[in-house]
Amino acid sequence: MSEKSGLIQELEALQAKAELELKNIQDSAALQSWRAEYLSRSAEVMSFFKRLPEAPIEDRPRIGQFANQVKTILETQFEKKESAIKQADLDANLQNERLDVTLPGRETTRGRLHIQTLVLREIYRIFAEMGFQVYRSPEVETDENNFELLNIPAYHPARDLWDTFYTTKPGVIMRTHTSPGQVRAMREFAPEPIRVTLPGMCYRYEQIDASHEIQFNQVELLAVGKNITFGDMKGTLEEFAKRMYGESVRTRIRPSYFPFVEPGGEMDVECFVCGGKGCSVCGGKGWLEILGCGMVHPVVLRNGGYDPEVYSGFAAGLGPERISMLRYRIDDIRNFWGNDVRFLEQF
Ligand code: PHE
Repeated sequence: MSEKSGLIQELEALQAKAELELKNIQDSAALQSWRAEYLSRSAEVMSFFKRLPEAPIEDRPRIGQFANQVKTILETQFEKKESAIKQADLDANLQNERLDVTLPGRETTRGRLHIQTLVLREIYRIFAEMGFQVYRSPEVETDENNFELLNIPAYHPARDLWDTFYTTKPGVIMRTHTSPGQVRAMREFAPEPIRVTLPGMCYRYEQIDASHEIQFNQVELLAVGKNITFGDMKGTLEEFAKRMYGESVRTRIRPSYFPFVEPGGEMDVECFVCGGKGCSVCGGKGWLEILGCGMVHPVVLRNGGYDPEVYSGFAAGLGPERISMLRYRIDDIRNFWGNDVRFLEQF
C-alpha cells in the first residue's frame, strides 16, 4: 500500500488537533477534560481501533501500529503537560503563601501585677522592716468581730458610720474594715506580744463616686505588748510615711474618734500638690488624710485576751488606694477595680 489510508490521515489530523489544544491548556481542569476527550476508553483515538475493520486487511497492522503510536505520543505529552501544570501551581502557591521571616513578630500582651498588689507589697515590706508580719483574716466576718468586740455595740451611734453588706446568714457580714482582724490576731497570740499588718478587701454599701467604692483595700496595723506608748505609734507611722513618700514628707496627727481606740487620731501628710499652702486637691487644708489610728481601747484588749492593766497597744488603719491616688495623682477611685486595661497597664 503506497498511498496513505484514509484512517491514517484522520489519525494525523486528530493528533494535530489534540496537540494544538494541549498546547493552549493552562490549568488542570482543562487538562483533565482534554484527557477525557482524547485518551479515555471512549476517546477518539480509541475509536480507531474499533474502526480497523473498515480498512483493507493488509493495511490493518500498519494502521493499528500508527494508532498505538499516536496514543503513546499523546499520553507522553499529557504527562509532560500535567507535571508542568503541577509545578506552576506549586510555584504560584509558594509565591502567594511565602513567609517573610524578616517581618516583625506579633507582640504578645504581657500580664502584670495590679497597681494595688504592687503598692500593698511595698507597704508590707516597709512594715516588715519594722518587725510587722502579715496576718490574713477573712473578708466575710461575723457581726461580732466587725462591731461588737471592737466596742461598737448594736445601739452605739458609731454603728451608723458603716453601711454594711449583710449576708443571708444572720450575724455574718462582709467586713467593713480590717479592724476585726485585730480581735482574731489577739485571740490567737494572747498573751504574747503582737506586731502584725492585716491587709485586704473591705466592703461598704455606699453610693459610688470618684472617692467612694463599695470595695477597697485596707491595711491594719496592730502592736500589742507591755509598755507600748503613743510615742511608739507616732514614731512607727512617721517612719512609714517617710519610707513611703520620701524623707522630707511632713506629717501630723490630729485627734479623731473611733470606738475601738482611746485616744484616737488621724494622720495627715502635707499636700503634695500645693506643699501645704492649700489647693483644690486638699480642699484648701494643705493636708491629706492617709490613716486612722489610736491606742487600742481597754475593752478591745480585754476582748482579745489581754489585761489592759498590764498590756497596751496601738492600731492604725490605712487605705492603700488612697495612698496610690496621692502618689500617682489618680483622681478617681473607680479606676482601681474597673478593669480598664488602659489604666492598669500604666503601672
Ligand atoms: N477601722 C478604721 C476605719 O475603717 C480605721 C482605724 C483602724 C482607726 C485602726 C483606728 C485604728 O476607718
